[in-house]
This record gives sequence, structure tokens and C-alpha cells, in this order.
Amino acid sequence: MRMVRMAIAAIVSLSLVSTPVIAAAPAPVAADHGMVVSAHRLASDAGIAVLKSGGNAVDAAIAVAYALAVTFPEAGNLGGGGFMVVRWHDGSKGFIDFRETAPMAATATMYQDKQGNVIPGLSTRGYSAVGIPGTVAGLELALAKYGTMPRAQLLAPAIGLARDGFVLERGDASFLAEGAEDFAKDTPSAAVFLDHGKPWTTGHRLVQADLARSLQAIATNGAAAFYKGSIAKSIVAASKQRGGILEMSDFAAYKAVERDPIECDYRGYHVISAPLPSSGGVVVCETLNILEGYPLGKLGWHSAQGVHYWTEALRRAYHDRNLNLGDPAFVKPDVERFTSKAYAAKLRGNIAPDRATPSASLPAPGSGQEGSSTTHFSIVDAQGNAVSLTYTLNDWFGARVMAPGTGILLNDEMDDFSSKPGAPNMYGLVEGANNAIAPGKRPMSSMTPTILTKDGKLFMVVGTPGGSHIPTAVLQVISNVVDYDMDLGQAVNAPRIHEQWLPDKVYYERYALSADTIRILEGMGHQMEPMDYWNQIAAILVGAPGIGKKPLGDATLYGVIDPRLPTGLAEGY
Ligand code: DON
Repeated sequence: MRMVRMAIAAIVSLSLVSTPVIAAAPAPVAADHGMVVSAHRLASDAGIAVLKSGGNAVDAAIAVAYALAVTFPEAGNLGGGGFMVVRWHDGSKGFIDFRETAPMAATATMYQDKQGNVIPGLSTRGYSAVGIPGTVAGLELALAKYGTMPRAQLLAPAIGLARDGFVLERGDASFLAEGAEDFAKDTPSAAVFLDHGKPWTTGHRLVQADLARSLQAIATNGAAAFYKGSIAKSIVAASKQRGGILEMSDFAAYKAVERDPIECDYRGYHVISAPLPSSGGVVVCETLNILEGYPLGKLGWHSAQGVHYWTEALRRAYHDRNLNLGDPAFVKPDVERFTSKAYAAKLRGNIAPDRATPSASLPAPGSGQEGSSTTHFSIVDAQGNAVSLTYTLNDWFGARVMAPGTGILLNDEMDDFSSKPGAPNMYGLVEGANNAIAPGKRPMSSMTPTILTKDGKLFMVVGTPGGSHIPTAVLQVISNVVDYDMDLGQAVNAPRIHEQWLPDKVYYERYALSADTIRILEGMGHQMEPMDYWNQIAAILVGAPGIGKKPLGDATLYGVIDPRLPTGLAEGY
């Protein structure tokens, strides 16, 4: 009896000394010199090899991006586009926009029938959905501006993986199988990704000879090989044959663009994120500015009150996003206002502490106010330079077409435009005229490659795929670390919520909210809806595994890949 009582006393005192009660999660991968966190183990290997041979974070990013185009065809790409945030150890920053553009023959109503109804599938499958790819131009600009290694050396791992093949692990095979039905309808895709019409199984060596040749041409001739040479010619020829509107002049005109990132501060942390044509930085900064006015930590992680404030902040940020934002070459939304503390304070003034704001009570598109596939990787090198890069084909495997002889899957990024103001896109986003289609315009994105600093020092590198769920996932990882005392493993693994103004719902991953919490939120007027996984966060924390946590020996870098997708690796050295 006495023994039992002593044992109980020991347990009680143990739980008193161990601080907050937080679900356990695998510890972050710790390293001293460099860290690469990507959606595929072989792409992370390629990045680490570059870092070890003296390349900087941008060199490694270029090698990882080309390798992912081979090993992670779900989203790694040459036929898509994306955004890269760089922060150098001296504090200087850069941003490269290599988002796709609409072909010159595109029109605002190209996806509508004569009655003005959106034609299902036209903006998501086949050549009619394809925007002019930006990835090769973006990686070339990054190399010219920041790289230190020869292009051929950075493409070599990708070329080897395509030419000699790589053996599919279970995660690779099961993920590839998801595209099987569409691959079967596209002869070049079927020749690579199917075995007599059936998905390849674990253990198969996936060889991509055409892709190896395309990569070799880029290694030798740079962006010209893609935009002016045989690759563009094959894509344009296939597009003309199969209902697309792509022209050689669209490819010749494509340009990656350098921009200033969006920046803001949150409880002493400095946020550097993606500017227009991505909405990511605006949504992150506007939401954080609103949330800063609430004592989130004290309210408790996923308490009903905390989730209520999160929801109301997100509702307002997405409302502004959806109605106002678009390509800055075409529209001029007041980004400074949307990301200012004063505007956030004004919005907070309209948030009731105990009642949901009906989304329909905020103005809708047309009222006059408006003037999943992606992948993210995070890299830090031995000097402390950081790259946060998200790029995409839009849907997994994009438009599910591959131009003959190229091995290159093409994007369906045109669906990120508003096919018709007020009509939801593939992510259920309801947007206004500022994101309408126009020739040469970039579709608005949600991709949110982000870097955080603290007192001028690198603190976090973070990003994810997930369409409209990207900013919310990035926000929750930041807040889990800053507000809720989680280490990076807990912050990435913790279940998430999502809200995007319309539909008027609070989405939650299973186990994210207790039944009691859901009941309280419903009582406030929130419409609660369970959701599946949307994201794969790839994140790095610098200094320690979490704020106030003990470093592991000498390790300064802590990497985590989100387990919500079946492939990916955080790798350090
Ligand atoms: O740019 C965007 O916002 C979308 N095209 C991203 C798509 C995406 O993240 C899909 N991921 N699974």
C-alpha cells in the first residue's frame, strides 16, 4: 500500500515539474552545418551534397528543385511555377517570382459557356488549363543572381535520377497511383508512369529518359533550351493539337521577376514572406496583426475562445484576399493598408468575443468593393543563409498532360484565376474581378514561402503545399512555436483548423478540437466541418528545437517534414 502511495506521489511530482501538457511528436532532425527539408528523400540528398561540396543555400535550392521534378512528379516540376524567398546571413533579402502567366490568347471568359456558366474541367485538366511555366526561368535567375556553382553541376543529380532511374518506395508508388486514371488518357504520361496501364509498384526502378534529355538540354543551354528550343516547340505543338492556346511567342516572352518580399512583425518576430501575385504574405501578415491583439497563449491552444479569434481573423484576411488581391502588373490593391497594424486594430473592433460573424455579412464579389499540387522546401546552409521555396503544378500532377518527347508534366495553374467572379475554384475560393483572366497576367496564388528572424538573426524557415490551406498552415506552425510553447516537431504535427471566408465553415482535422469545444463554437454560430490533410509543412528552426528549449549538443539547426504526406525527408549534416 505504502509503495503504491509513494509511486503515485512520484508520478504527481513528475507531472508537476514537466511543464505544459503537449502531445508528444518525433523530435526534429538536428544538425550543425546545413539542413534541407523537402518532399523527397533523394531531393534532400541532392541538396545536402551541394551544401557539403561548398555550395550556398541557393545552389542547393536549384539542385533540390530540379531533383524534385524527377523524384516527386506530383508537384516537383519544370512545367509549373513558384516563389523563392532568400535571406542572407548579413540580413539582406531577395524574392524571385516565377509564377506562370496566362497565354496571350487567354480571355476573361475562356472557361465559361455561352450562358456564362463555368465549364467544369476546362481550367483543371488538359492543355486548356496550362499557364506558361516559370520554373526554369526562375531557377536560372536565382543561379545568375545568387548561385556560385556551374549550372551543369546543380542539374547533375536530377539528370542521373531521370536517366538511371530511382527505385520506388512504398510512399512513392502509392502517391503515383493517385494519378493513374488520368495518366491512362495521356500517352506520354502513361509510357512513363504506368506499367501496361497499371500503376508501378514498390521496388520498380522509374526511369524517365525523355525528362533526362530535357534536363540535359537545360544544363547545356540554360533557359533558352526550355523557352526557345525544342521543349517549347513540343509543348506548343501538343497544345495546338489538343485544344490549347499556347504559342511560341508566349514562351519567348516569359520572364521571372525580382520583387520585394512582404514583411511584418509578430510579438517580436520579424516575418518575411511572399508578395503579390501571391496572397500568402498578405494573408499571413494581416492575420498575425489581428491575432496580436489577443492573448492567444493565455487562452490556450485550441480553446473555443482561441479558435473563435483565429477564425474571425482568418475570415477577414481571406475576405480581403479574395476580393482585392491579384497580379500587381494589372491591379493595385492597397497592400500597405491590409498589412498595417492600424487596419488590424480596426478589424478587431468588429470582432465580437462571443459571436461568429456570418461570412455573408461581408461584401461579396461584384458588390463594387473589389477594384493540391505544390511542394515546399526549406534550406539553411553553413553560413546561415536561408531559402524558402514553394513551387507547383497546381493540382497533383498538374493538368495531367505531358508534351511528347519532353517528359515534362504541365501545370493547370489557369484554375487559380477566377474563371468567373463569384464562382468557386478548385479550392472553393470565391474571388473577385481583380483576379480575372487577362493575357500575360499571373494568377493569384496562396503559396507562402516564409522566413522569420528574431533580433536580426535567422529563426525559422517554413512553407507548405495545400492551395488555399497554405497560409493557414504556415500561420499555425508559427503560432504554435511563438504562442503555444511547442517545439518544431509538435508545431508541425499538431492538428490544424482552416477558414477562408467562403464557404462559411470552420474546418478542423480529426482530433484538432474536442467535442466540447466544437459544441461551444457551434453555440457561437460557427459552422464546424471535419477536413482531411491538406499540407506538408517543411520547416527549419535555428538555435534550439523550440523557444526556451535546450539545444541538442552543438546542433544549431532543427528540421521537420510534416508526416501528412507519404514521402519527404529532413536531412542535415
Ligand atoms: O498557387 C496556389 O495557390 C496553388 N496553385 C497551390 C496549389 C497547391 O498547393 C496544391 N497542393 N497540394
